[in-house]
Amino acid sequence: MDKKIVIAIDGFSSCGKSTFAKAIAKRLGYLYIDSGAMYRVVTLELLRRGLIKDGVVDTSMLQSILKEINIGFSYDPVKMVYLTTLNGEVVEDEIRSPQVANHVSLVAAIPAVRTRLVELQRELGKKKGIVMDGRDIGTVVFPNAELKIFMTADPIVRARRRLKELQEKGLNVTLDEVLKNIEERDYIDQNRDVAPLRKADDAVVLDNTNMTVEEQMEWVEEMVKRLTV
Ligand code: DC
Repeated sequence: MDKKIVIAIDGFSSCGKSTFAKAIAKRLGYLYIDSGAMYRVVTLELLRRGLIKDGVVDTSMLQSILKEINIGFSYDPVKMVYLTTLNGEVVEDEIRSPQVANHVSLVAAIPAVRTRLVELQRELGKKKGIVMDGRDIGTVVFPNAELKIFMTADPIVRARRRLKELQEKGLNVTLDEVLKNIEERDYIDQNRDVAPLRKADDAVVLDNTNMTVEEQMEWVEEMVKRLTV
């Protein structure tokens, strides 16, 4: 498998996109980019500066913030995890906090934020051999990606998986709350004016409601093999 390709993975939140994307990247020796983490970093920076209040984002300083902040990814080979950085500081845990999760859809709907992050994502993806996951990767960021996957799963299954993750982190939430948050995020992601979540016409659908990660890997490896011979 010498030929390297771009694999674009889009889909709903909490349907296992990043677990799946990381596993493919690892197996193929590709670079993995979590585009959602980039929206989370911008949200964190705006929250830290006190620029999000009562569900409203103060955009007066947005252009300069977007130009100044440095979003990076580093791989920790010991823990075998990807770490997101903001101006060199590891913010991996902070960007997954409920506070960031509750405001990120709002920030991701701002056109100036999307324009800047899409620019950075294309820069990162200049070399082939990458797996990027998000909401608009196959439709906007890499419309010419060789392989586009649209992931989906039953909302209740996604809520159960997410609840387990949150409980493992020691957070005290109920299944109902998690399901409500997932449904709200699906609605916002699909109905925003800029780059709404939708399946690219040439994307293949992966519904993993009843699939293990290993089964998903076998499915995708078959496709990658056909595209890279
Ligand atoms: O995948 P995630 O849950 O980390 O994404 C966080 C938020 O960012 C979510 O509200 C959707 C948004 N997002 C986006 O609009 N476009 C992307 N390419 C990736 C994420």
